[in-house]
Amino acid sequence: VERNQRTTGRGSSNVAKPAARQLEPSALGSKSLLGILALLRSDPLEMLRRALREPEDILRLRAGPETLYLLKRPEHIRHALVDNARNYEKPRRMIAALRMILGNGLVTSEGSFWLRQRRLAQPAFHRSNLASFAKAMAAATEHMLDGWMPAVDQQRPFDVAEEMSALTLRIISETVIGESLEDDVRRMGRAVKTANTYVHERGFSLFPLPRRLPTSKNRLFRRETAALDDIIYRIIEKKRAHPNGSLDLVTMLMGAKDAETGESMSDEQLRDEVMTIFVAGHETTATALSWTFYLLSKHPEVERRLRTDVSTVLAGRLPELEDLQRLPVLDQVIKESMRLYPPVWILGRSALAPDEVGGVALPRGCIVIMSPYLTHRLPELWDNPEGFDPSRFVPEGTRERPRFAYYPFGGGARQCIGDSFAMMEAQLILATVLRRVHLSLAPWQRVEPEPLITLRPRYGMAMLASMN
Ligand code: HEM
Repeated sequence: VERNQRTTGRGSSNVAKPAARQLEPSALGSKSLLGILALLRSDPLEMLRRALREPEDILRLRAGPETLYLLKRPEHIRHALVDNARNYEKPRRMIAALRMILGNGLVTSEGSFWLRQRRLAQPAFHRSNLASFAKAMAAATEHMLDGWMPAVDQQRPFDVAEEMSALTLRIISETVIGESLEDDVRRMGRAVKTANTYVHERGFSLFPLPRRLPTSKNRLFRRETAALDDIIYRIIEKKRAHPNGSLDLVTMLMGAKDAETGESMSDEQLRDEVMTIFVAGHETTATALSWTFYLLSKHPEVERRLRTDVSTVLAGRLPELEDLQRLPVLDQVIKESMRLYPPVWILGRSALAPDEVGGVALPRGCIVIMSPYLTHRLPELWDNPEGFDPSRFVPEGTRERPRFAYYPFGGGARQCIGDSFAMMEAQLILATVLRRVHLSLAPWQRVEPEPLITLRPRYGMAMLASMN
């Protein structure tokens, strides 16, 4: 098979370029293109693993009414997310499904509206503001660990994936939203999980049933999102009644005024942004942590070293932001875990006008898909791609790789707004947990990634904890 040309898409304009190639649909080892469609829906990770083995850098896949182009290489991904990002928007169908829960918040909006909201929200995620969150992150983790103690005494396993979800949700509400949701945390966690599955199913289904039909799934979704709305509108109402001038996101957004009209945000708009942060900002980090604990349990030598480092540096204290510099392996372990199990495993864009990437013609309206799960395993970029080796992320190693060899947070203008928040949070949680306990996987636990909106452990992550 002819290899696609490896151009960066930024060739000099006075050199005559060869005409872009039209790609034939790839069957990825299936006997038929219908087989591929079935695979895309039933086992997308297997589809990605097969795509990884194909010699072409760009694959064309037909999925029902849509034509997908899968980009594998960093420079092609950079083309879609950065160099020619103006030609792309998030795919309408995917966004329509997400809007059912997120409304028109940062993740789902486009154009000038998105830009305005992004500018308003940015200061809440600024490094200087993040430092003030460190204490709350470590304290919430310590509180969770106290709750683990009966299970530790009785040698009873518990689901670390659920624990991480509840913890990151609590942290998001206390820090970014500025509200402690003591009683509502588990309720919200459950609602977000239901919504996640429902939205994913609709996003991937070719013929979703109308939302108004009283099917049990539709009813459950409506009930759970109504419960979420209820909690969020309560927060907004309370903050409007008692403004306290704090730097949390809701207060900042509430105080923001449109430069031209002088109007401030409606309750509905605030609801959309708060819901977006709740959903985008907790399951992702929780997933990254669940996989990290799993990988550490499979690599006891790395775990032992990290636990020793943590206890030496902390000497019995809770971790603070400054400690992270002296514990660089925390960052490396989390990055390596997100290389193998990127919480956001696929990104999609649709082309507004015809384009060309790597010598291949992309028609107007096609969907371009990029998968960190796949690119993070390209053998020409990563030695022993399936192996867990945090030392890949020592600063020298990181500098040697091209941008978009590694992109768990996406890139370009739509790069994750919470990336620094998430990295700081994950490191503080990991240090606080390792300071007190050692975790091992329950012997019967089946482990498999489930590619929903985030790449969750399909059967949960039952683990046993013992005191250090
Ligand atoms: C390990 C944790 C996280 C991962 C892997 C992750 C990943 C991502 C990725 C890949 C995108 C880009 C999606 C695209 O371009 O299609 C994104 C966007 C976003 N993320 Fe995260 N995220 C994480 C944590 C967070 C946190 C903690 C927050 C908030 C507190 C957050 C809020 C957002 C928002 C609001 C967007 C949309 C940004 C925009 O389009 O302007 N994320 N995230």
